[in-house]
Amino acid sequence: MKTDLHIIRLRAETPACENLIHFNNAGASLSPSIVTQSVAQHLQLEQLIGGYEAAEQAAGQIENFYPAFARLLNCDPAEMAFIENATRAWDMAFYAVPFQPGDQVITGQAEYASNYLAMLQLQKRLGIEIVVIANDAQGMLDLDSLREHINRKTRLIALTHIPSQIGTVQPAAEVGTIARGHGILYLLDACQSAGQLPLDTQQLGCDLLTGTGRKYLRGPRGTGFLYVNRNRMHELSPPFIDLHSARWVGPDNFEFRDDARRFENWECFVAGKIGLGVAADYAHNLGLEAIQTRISVVAGHLANRLREAPGVTVHEKSDNRSGIVTFSLARESAPGLQQRLRRSGINISVSRRVNAQLDSNVRQVGDVCRASLHYYNTVEEIDRFIAYLNQPRS
Ligand SMILES: Cc1ncc(COP(=O)(O)O)c(C=O)c1O
Repeated sequence: MKTDLHIIRLRAETPACENLIHFNNAGASLSPSIVTQSVAQHLQLEQLIGGYEAAEQAAGQIENFYPAFARLLNCDPAEMAFIENATRAWDMAFYAVPFQPGDQVITGQAEYASNYLAMLQLQKRLGIEIVVIANDAQGMLDLDSLREHINRKTRLIALTHIPSQIGTVQPAAEVGTIARGHGILYLLDACQSAGQLPLDTQQLGCDLLTGTGRKYLRGPRGTGFLYVNRNRMHELSPPFIDLHSARWVGPDNFEFRDDARRFENWECFVAGKIGLGVAADYAHNLGLEAIQTRISVVAGHLANRLREAPGVTVHEKSDNRSGIVTFSLARESAPGLQQRLRRSGINISVSRRVNAQLDSNVRQVGDVCRASLHYYNTVEEIDRFIAYLNQPRS
């Protein structure tokens, strides 16, 4: 299989590849050694000289998070914030929008569950209206329906780029063009796409973009990020505040910082912030186009092999798909298969129906198996996985 990536070297830099078939990269991928080492080294430095003193000594490495993500997302370093995970990054953005009762939020059928819960909370607390745009037969957000639902009350469009429960890639840039055309704030959840395909905030046309470290970026757990378009920054009032995000300018007053760090906490996982910057550089240096090409080749092979296997239904209908392949078995439950594979050193995950109610109800699927591939996975691993899948159960 031809690819611009040197898969043997990349696997050698990922020690677990030696004895594990890891198809749970949309859960948490395997970090390359350089990322793990950067985190461990900083934790050791903290142990040796003290946390504050270590932060001073490693100031350059900590600061690297901002230019690293600016390169990755084509934005300004001042538009980036380090947040502990994607959910909090999304929350910081969402709750910063000055909603009024009756304002409308438009989202998609496959929006991430925690995001939708936040919308429900503001529906109950404030009286905002939630409009859910259905997907078309291919599982893609219906853009005509989106256009039709926009009105003068529409305050925010929130879209999940690649859903948790299915591997289709939603038309994020097309939604960006529509949002820009109406001057509506656009919040893109790129949690599953960051690190597996190129993300250019200018081309996507989003005002806010959120992601996590541990998934396709191969960063440490407990890390995430938020991009905020500097032209819309002044409209947003972060829901939480501290002495890092704001200045106490007088006994009765404060001012938020001018940059996206107004969304950050002062206290954070400093070693993780270093590691996430290293992971972003690692992905950027490999090239997101090469990464996307490789992932689509291996995921395509997996989807084809699954379609040939007896009693297997693959759920992705669109060709616009990612490294995530979801499927159901006629004769085995998703948790049953997950456990059986785990005993053979193969990791997959299960997407629970209850966590994707709008989408799963429409598609009438229950809990489904999710195999999520990264560029370091191989055709040989896929073929072994299929052989285990087809094995009679003991
Ligand atoms: C689409 C999507 N958004 C957000 C999240 C939440 O990410 P985190 O666990 O980092 O908060 C997930 C996690 O699975 C996800 O799939």
